[in-house]
Amino acid sequence: MSPDARAYRHGHQGGVLWFTGLSGSGKSTLAIGLEQALFAEGFQVFVLDGDNLRHGLNRDLGFSYRDRQENIRRVIEMAVAFADAGTVVITAFISPFRADRERARQTLGKKFHEIFVDARLEVCEARDPKGLYKKARAGIITEFTGISSPYERPESPALSLDTGGTSINDCVAGLRDYAVRAFRRT
Ligand code: ADX
Repeated sequence: MSPDARAYRHGHQGGVLWFTGLSGSGKSTLAIGLEQALFAEGFQVFVLDGDNLRHGLNRDLGFSYRDRQENIRRVIEMAVAFADAGTVVITAFISPFRADRERARQTLGKKFHEIFVDARLEVCEARDPKGLYKKARAGIITEFTGISSPYERPESPALSLDTGGTSINDCVAGLRDYAVRAFRRT
């Protein structure tokens, strides 16, 4: 089927909202909130989340540079398939390395939209929803992003959300408006 036929049926184009940000920055929360908002408006939408994929498809991978690179390589392949099928894909992975996100951009072309879920390290560490920052500080977890492994901030994201200073509802509303514009049928 042609992309146009799929877009006609779904009422919108397929594509990828690529969330990137520190652990605890709010990627999963906003991804789920946005998925619900878009679904309610009739969008074909699906979330790919690091915490889920790492229990299945990517459970053989850890957090070394090479493993994160492979993690993101597989995510890109999945995102391409969903986007080609006409779905709006929301990916929620730390994806800390610019080179990996650049690969996603090159592979997906205009379908790629980089969304920076921005919260200062201190904010994420204070939230520490899974207690991982505490373990990272204690040296129990190694190569932890922001503590003992780098996070390379996006240089020119399509959208940047300050989750330390903005409510979840306001962030989701901004994302929803962006998505409606970005995936409008042409
Ligand atoms: S990525 O760097 O390869 O993009 P991904 O988003 O899939 O990471 O997984 C990140 C999640 O794995 C974190 O939210 C956290 O729950 C968990 N995690 C476990 N160990 C680490 C670590 N060393 N660094 C970052 N996240 C970790």
